[in-house]
Amino acid sequence: MRSRIFWLLLVVASVTFTSCGPEPPPEVIPPVNNGSDTTLVDVTELPPLRIPTDNPLSVAGVDLGRHLFYDDILSGNQSQSCGTCHNQKHGFTDNGNALSEGIKGQLGTRNAMPIFNLMWGNGFFWDSRASTLFHLVTMPIENPIEMDARVEDVLDRLNNSAMYKDKFKKAFGVDTIKEEHLSKALEQFILTITSDNSKFDKFNRGEANLTTQELRGFDVLKIKGCFNCHSSSLLTDNKSHNTALDKTPKDSGLMATTGRYEDRHKFKTPSLRNIMVTAPYMHDGRFKTIEDVIEFYELVLPNLNLEMNRNASDSMRIAPRNRITPGEMADVKAFLNTLTDHEMLNNPKFSDPF
Ligand code: HEC
Ligand code: HEC
Repeated sequence: MRSRIFWLLLVVASVTFTSCGPEPPPEVIPPVNNGSDTTLVDVTELPPLRIPTDNPLSVAGVDLGRHLFYDDILSGNQSQSCGTCHNQKHGFTDNGNALSEGIKGQLGTRNAMPIFNLMWGNGFFWDSRASTLFHLVTMPIENPIEMDARVEDVLDRLNNSAMYKDKFKKAFGVDTIKEEHLSKALEQFILTITSDNSKFDKFNRGEANLTTQELRGFDVLKIKGCFNCHSSSLLTDNKSHNTALDKTPKDSGLMATTGRYEDRHKFKTPSLRNIMVTAPYMHDGRFKTIEDVIEFYELVLPNLNLEMNRNASDSMRIAPRNRITPGEMADVKAFLNTLTDHEMLNNPKFSDPF
């Protein structure tokens, strides 16, 4: 029902703009087979809250998680925090770095992922090897080329800190801090980081208009089938796909997690939310700009779509289309800019408390 309202709004908005707006009418997009431009994007609102039953969010727990997230105390030589590689202003990615440097200056092999709307995630990391955030949060701490610490040592430090003793007591009622409490606090903080107040969200709620250029960009991406995978209000299907980045890929992706050959080179679909502030792109950060990403998709989309068409219902089938024009590229960028949620990027609740 909500999505119908959204589409109605979209139609009304485009009609209004084309009939009386000062800007030129949107270019006519050539018809494609099977009406792929009706691909539904239900972007009206985020799904219902999904909080783990064994870790209800409390004010004290979230506050504690936020302190831990930004505290160097979690790394071996106390020089790095989670926030070092996950910068709020960049959608919690690593400041434009393709790969991240750990505490000993060693580079990892993957691009630091954005952190928001993970409440609705089904698997975490590019290869989905962490099944829950609770299990994930100690992995970067122990990873020898990231924070390179032993959890026991971190717990010793926390147990020797009056501030943390007090905060853990308030959050979990405990006198001795254990790994379980550390994980729960970090999980709680990460779960609160949600993004749903971009211009596009406001447009979908009827609180803002998109320009004709932004609407044209939206149409271009719909027709290309981008929202088949970057789908729903989360703008990700939270599944993994092989986007054919390499002929002979170095990283086996999801296959390393599942052991299944059909999962080779599959990576988790990132959200398109905040995409203009999270460059560089892809699991290894190989593309510096959004133009690079779109140019890449021009080459592989016909095959990706073939793959999807095999399983798709009629209305979801995508037809191959001509190469993107410079005008369309500008339109796409204008649209993608509407996905930036400045409120989330600047929300003091998610910022460094120290
Ligand atoms: C040295 C840089 C670095 C540090 C420090 C770091 N991360 Fe990350 N983070 C990454 C990288 C790189 C990935 C992707 C890793 C992969 O897929 O194998 C990632 C992925 C993640 C994800 C997965 C997001 C998703 O959508 O699946 C979460 C959550 C996360 N990190 C949280 C944390 C937390 C919590 C801490 C602190 C305890 C932390 N990170 C410290 C670099 C870092
Ligand atoms: C078959 C599913 C699928 C389709 C269709 C698809 N994507 Fe993706 N997209 C993915 C996956 C999976 C990744 C991660 C790939 C990787 O890193 O190896 C990705 C990565 C991206 C990234 C980089 C995100 C980041 O944080 O690094 C952008 C931007 C993007 N896609 C935009 C698009 C656009 C624009 C289209 C349409 C032209 C599109 N995608 C079509 C699945 C898809």
